[in-house]
Amino acid sequence: MRMTRTVQLAEAADQLSPSDYDEPFVIPTETVYGLAARIDREEALRKIFQIKGRPSDNPLIVHVSSMDMLRTVVDGDIPQEYRLLIDNFWPGPLSLVFRASSAVSPTIRGSGRETVAVRMPASRHLLRLIDRIGVPLAAPSANTSGRPSPTTVAHARADLGDRVGLYIDGGATEMGLESTVFGIFDAVPVLLRPGSVTRESIELVIGRPVQVKTVSGRDQATLSPGQKYTHYSPSIPVFLFRGQSAGGQGADDWAVAMRRKQGELGGSRIGVVCSSDDNNQLAVHKKIILGTDKRNWCRNIFSALLELEKTCDVIFVHSVDSSEEGLAIMDRIEKAATHTV
Ligand code: TXA
Ligand code: MG
Repeated sequence: MRMTRTVQLAEAADQLSPSDYDEPFVIPTETVYGLAARIDREEALRKIFQIKGRPSDNPLIVHVSSMDMLRTVVDGDIPQEYRLLIDNFWPGPLSLVFRASSAVSPTIRGSGRETVAVRMPASRHLLRLIDRIGVPLAAPSANTSGRPSPTTVAHARADLGDRVGLYIDGGATEMGLESTVFGIFDAVPVLLRPGSVTRESIELVIGRPVQVKTVSGRDQATLSPGQKYTHYSPSIPVFLFRGQSAGGQGADDWAVAMRRKQGELGGSRIGVVCSSDDNNQLAVHKKIILGTDKRNWCRNIFSALLELEKTCDVIFVHSVDSSEEGLAIMDRIEKAATHTV
């Protein structure tokens, strides 16, 4: 078995040597952990796809530490609306789709595509590390394709094990959900993947409506290939209970529906992710309460799914309203769900 090692993020830039970056390595970002490779190491980029079992047409997000570095991966000028978004949200969890320069290999772009998604991560130490390396890092989330994204180095290690030699530990991630992916295509602003930078906040900055293309379908698959694959799935069934979110009238809806479903499932050990403890008549194996603050849901939803799959037979989760961060939360829960009630 190959040895793996873990280095603390704050020390990584000083402790690691250039050859450590020749192979894929795990990095912490403010969203989720990523499996990174230098964009000029073709062999390592290919290994990312092997390690994750990722389809080769699903492009990688490129991480830069400066505007100068951004210009090396972009073909032509930076569109004015992107400039506004960069001023408002970078460094941060917003990936923008640009026309790619020749520095971005077809491996990163996914077969035939001429664009590249780029972001500047918010972590100061990570920016310093990228600066030190001197070239951008391509990094998808550090999980086997189809699994929930890791929000701690332990999650990443539990999933990828010794398929990766170097893990950089930056503690639990601040946001907990992957970045928003946004692009302007034929002058139309399109949200390709919802995240903590919300549709509403993008609309406010660019001053016009944004189309949301997050439902799988052929058009969507062409624009953002990642959306057509299964995603975020724990190893046990996940039941999504629709109806109102908890707190208002609707709290009873899902509580009643969960009790009924529990009856049908007999003696299964049930794990619940919910916003409040109102539903105390449900005799569950484990309950994770995330409250009504959607940022808290973002931060904890993946770790809740990963935690519950360890000891439960099924997971119950209820919907949240889809305004602001709710759109991103519902996107992830809907894709994780094997059943909808
Ligand atoms: O927060 C994040 O974005 C994390 C961290 C590590 O930065 N990364 C991440 O990467 O979530 P990944 O590969 O798991 O998801 C990237 C998504 C995929 O759905 C992919 O299809 C889409 O971004 N994407 C990447 N490049 C694209 C492009 N050129 N055009 C359209 N969609 C693109
Ligand atoms: Mg991913």
